[in-house]
Amino acid sequence: MKNQVLEQFNKIYPDAPSPLIIRSPGRINIIGEHTDYNEGFVLPAAIDKAIYVAIAKRDDDEIHLYAGDYNESHVVNADAVAISEKHWPNYILGVVDQLQKKGFNIGGFSLAIDGDVPLGAGLSSSAAVECATAFALNELFGLGLTKLEMVKRAQKAEHTFAGVMCGIMDQFASMFGKKDNVIQLDCRSIEYEYEPFELKDYKILLLNTNVKHSLSSSAYNERRQQCEQGVAWVREYHKDVLSLRDVTIQMLNDHVLPKDELIYKRCKYVVEEIERLLQGCKDLQEGDIKALGKKMFRTHEGLSKEYEVSCEELDFLVDAVKDNPDVIGARMMGGGFGGCTINIIKEDAIDELVNKLKPLYKQAFDKDLDHYIASIEDGASLVID
Ligand code: GLA
Repeated sequence: MKNQVLEQFNKIYPDAPSPLIIRSPGRINIIGEHTDYNEGFVLPAAIDKAIYVAIAKRDDDEIHLYAGDYNESHVVNADAVAISEKHWPNYILGVVDQLQKKGFNIGGFSLAIDGDVPLGAGLSSSAAVECATAFALNELFGLGLTKLEMVKRAQKAEHTFAGVMCGIMDQFASMFGKKDNVIQLDCRSIEYEYEPFELKDYKILLLNTNVKHSLSSSAYNERRQQCEQGVAWVREYHKDVLSLRDVTIQMLNDHVLPKDELIYKRCKYVVEEIERLLQGCKDLQEGDIKALGKKMFRTHEGLSKEYEVSCEELDFLVDAVKDNPDVIGARMMGGGFGGCTINIIKEDAIDELVNKLKPLYKQAFDKDLDHYIASIEDGASLVID
């Protein structure tokens, strides 16, 4: 992949100086979904699928972008960065805009981008692009930003240029990932701990529905607002409550259920999921992967029936493994409405499961089912020869 992006860079920008190359990975999340923007916890990790950026300075003030995935270019002046009608440049330009807003002087540059994070698969290809860009510009222009500052600029770029009011999980995982470890991140204090993720003879299998989620299609932002509404109702009685992190089921029963059943359902899922993650982390520390797996199934049920961010295809894939003794946990992953399920499965059972599921999936939905065995890798870095 690294060589591929370098070749593309040299072909598109034959006169440019030799570029820096940055790798920023996609992510998985074991448990803790839709909890980040509610100031709860998440348990993500960076994976072996990544976005690569090749970047070099220019003598003028122009920003030249090239995306290998689309074989498309985009050019804009550094003092006229704005949301583009094309989709892909926004994840890069949004970061440039955020850095400029912080007062950094970003000069002209040429950038080529490519990678093997499947797009729209719930593996956070967009966060990987944003983090790769932030990392690249920080290196290229010597901005001196910390990793956390880059994460925050990248997250804000998603809000402003992609219109998704995402939490901090995806960008944090892409930047802070650590090989063979998951990150237990407290999304309120931004304190985090690495937890070794030892699966022994189990693997992480991702099953891609090939249903492209469109988070900005407002459902994601709507869920976020529903959570905020629930908090506002509870706050009328409990002034110290700042987010669903502080809310109990009792408070929801008393102050939200009488007002709106749908909002109650949404909030109840989140409150339970925050608690479930904490219990799941204990399972992990005790080496009880099976108990953690059971919680993943429960998370799926909540996401599907209460938070309602699943879809038929995701439900089908989780149902199909529910009674399989070789699969100890499975659920939809990420924002929802498509993308991948994450499965913890005995390594020697993968082939059989995938061979069985592919034709069934095709028959049911007339779509192909893709699969990846994910390994946990380090977060964003400069690629050195
Ligand atoms: C998307 C967002 C994240 C998080 C997940 C759901 O991936 O970008 O911030 O909210 O959905 O857990």
